[in-house]
Amino acid sequence: MDRINVIAIDGPAGSGKSTVAKLVAKNLKFLYIDTGAMYRALTLKAVKEGADFNDQEKLIALSKDLDVRLVESGGDLKVLLDGNDVSEKIRSMEITAKVKFVAGTAGVRKNMVRLQQKLGRASSGAVMEGRDIGTVVFPDAAHKFYLDANSRTRAERRFKELKEKGFDVSFLEVEKDVKARDASDMTRKVGALKKAKDARLIDTTDMTIEEVVDKILAQVKDIR
Ligand code: DC
Repeated sequence: MDRINVIAIDGPAGSGKSTVAKLVAKNLKFLYIDTGAMYRALTLKAVKEGADFNDQEKLIALSKDLDVRLVESGGDLKVLLDGNDVSEKIRSMEITAKVKFVAGTAGVRKNMVRLQQKLGRASSGAVMEGRDIGTVVFPDAAHKFYLDANSRTRAERRFKELKEKGFDVSFLEVEKDVKARDASDMTRKVGALKKAKDARLIDTTDMTIEEVVDKILAQVKDIR
């Protein structure tokens, strides 16, 4: 079977994967798919519906009917939930803290993975980023990368990003969140964050965005 025309980029929060994936997709004229935004949109939906986050059946039902669309808009990605632009709302600390309840539910992941596979297959080429893309969503991806950086650097990046978006957060709060998310992403029973055996590891701690993008582009030449 031919390898699917997907570049999988996985890694922990703050490893730089969103910025890098966006630029790689732009360079290759590929579709950019941010799967974290999809889990975040589902979390926002559950908050809006007043769902009990311990009610797994409810979360699974919401994921089944989820109307989430990722639309390219002026070089950025717009996230539409039920047709409304929620790109900013899904980045709040409240959503970030609650996303683990949906991401840790097996039935939810099943529906989300199916949706992500459909999106990837429908495109002529995609850069998909998340936690389980190279391991679960597209184990047959043409190229797989695992981005990492030390936790201090990752927390600094998240803090800067949130500040730039106008969120009122403290560094300590963000650092605590990054550590908590590492723990829950790496230890959940389904779709846990881990490097696929055949993924290339890139430690971005002392690298610029451009350096990481160039490194990836140099390794995916065959896909263009
Ligand atoms: O990439 P991000 O920080 O926007 O992702 C938000 C959360 O979604 C993250 O803490 C874990 C979850 N997630 C996941 O479980 N699987 C994915 N493929 C992508 C994200």
